[in-house]
Amino acid sequence: MLMSSNNLDDAGSYKYGQFKDNEEELDRLKLQATIALDLEKKAWKKAGLQPGMKVLDLACGPGFISCELAKEVGDGHVVGVDINEALIATAHQAKEREGVDNVSFSLGNLYELDLPENSFDFVYARFVFQHLEHPEKALENILKVLRPGGVLCITDIDDNWTSFSPESDAFVKFIRKAGAGQRRKGGNRLIGSQLYGMLKNTGYQDVSTNVHPLSSEDLGIRYFLGIAVLFRVEMLNGFQKLLALNCLRKIKKAAQDEHAWGAVGVFVTTGIKS
Ligand SMILES: C[S@@+](CC[C@H](N)C(=O)[O-])C[C@H]1O[C@@H](n2cnc3c(N)ncnc32)[C@H](O)[C@@H]1O
Repeated sequence: MLMSSNNLDDAGSYKYGQFKDNEEELDRLKLQATIALDLEKKAWKKAGLQPGMKVLDLACGPGFISCELAKEVGDGHVVGVDINEALIATAHQAKEREGVDNVSFSLGNLYELDLPENSFDFVYARFVFQHLEHPEKALENILKVLRPGGVLCITDIDDNWTSFSPESDAFVKFIRKAGAGQRRKGGNRLIGSQLYGMLKNTGYQDVSTNVHPLSSEDLGIRYFLGIAVLFRVEMLNGFQKLLALNCLRKIKKAAQDEHAWGAVGVFVTTGIKS
């Protein structure tokens, strides 16, 4: 059942506040928002982001990226919406810290958007679709709030594009287990390549998906593991978690090899409202 924004029932497989170490998760989100920002800005430009636009950062989390979008749109405006009250509070702090005036934040559920129809030039949804139980419903709601000609841009992930060397059974097992755990919580770690068809089915025009590799050469092997792998143990409970922790120990050891290398594919899907 679709619920209201003041509980986390509709947050799918991402419930900030229920991590073992929430501060550490916030640090990971911050790192993930800064480490490849130049590449991300290029993707926004390619998708059609321009100064003056009215932008919705949907499932904005702690608002780091909403503030960056606000800097890009100049005299435009960014609205950040998220279901998690604690993250919206963090987003307000980010706005103060960054000194950006043209961004505002509010609590909201993407399944029940309380926003005017036909009002946004650009909707950005970053690393949320992999957590959603009802992605098509979210796509329909976004279509309503986009103005005709407006652009939806989604950044997400697909485990079929996650790799690590030296060859490691533990890595393969871990990725499989974490993906299955996320699936049990309502998420989908293979969403990246599926979004193309989903946007087409929902009625978006000029749909396009591009994959941008992000490797340990860009991030360093430690940060690669930190933002792309280690935190995913949180998707598991009980015995599965114990097994996954054992895999993680082996992965960390394998990562000490001076030739260790890893990469994830970041999927950017865009579509236009006709
Ligand atoms: C992995 S975080 C990404 C946050 C942010 N977009 C970023 O890239 O830093 C996923 C976000 O989706 C939010 N979320 C999950 N389900 C949601 C829903 N139904 N409505 C609004 N936000 C939701 C979570 O609260 C969380 O902030």
